[in-house]
Amino acid sequence: MIQATLAIIKPDATKRNIVGQILRRAEDQDLAVVAIKRLHLTKKQAAGFYSVHRNKSFFDDLTDFMSEGPIVVVVLRGEGSIRKWRDLMGATDPVKASPGTIRALFGESIERNSTHGSDSPESACFEIGYFFSGLDLVK
Ligand code: CMP
Repeated sequence: MIQATLAIIKPDATKRNIVGQILRRAEDQDLAVVAIKRLHLTKKQAAGFYSVHRNKSFFDDLTDFMSEGPIVVVVLRGEGSIRKWRDLMGATDPVKASPGTIRALFGESIERNSTHGSDSPESACFEIGYFFSGLDLVK
């Protein structure tokens, strides 16, 4: 099924200038960049995006980190894009991520793990809508 997912290149990765290296991995797997922008979130905007985690112990640190520098938000479209992008990223904790995955290659810690990806069609819908309007998605 052709679907869209929301990918984020996190502040640890934009800082190291590896946006292109990360996105190449998506494009190599036939995921198309159909919308993209770079922005610097406020802590409040980061909290809104991650509101599903608001009761977690790591929420405050996570929102500090996600607002410490620029991020790049990307809509990836393609066959099974949600699963495919999550497989490309690897496990949340870079130490547990399979060799060759983005987080294994580039992640610095469970928090500074370089990338985010939607985990379901419902979260993709919320997450894409958080950053983009329908007119921004150019197939
Ligand atoms: P992400 O896929 O963006 O979703 C929530 C983020 O919280 C996750 O990646 C991690 O970067 C971050 N995080 C920090 N600590 C933890 C933790 N203990 N368990 C899960 N996620 C964590």
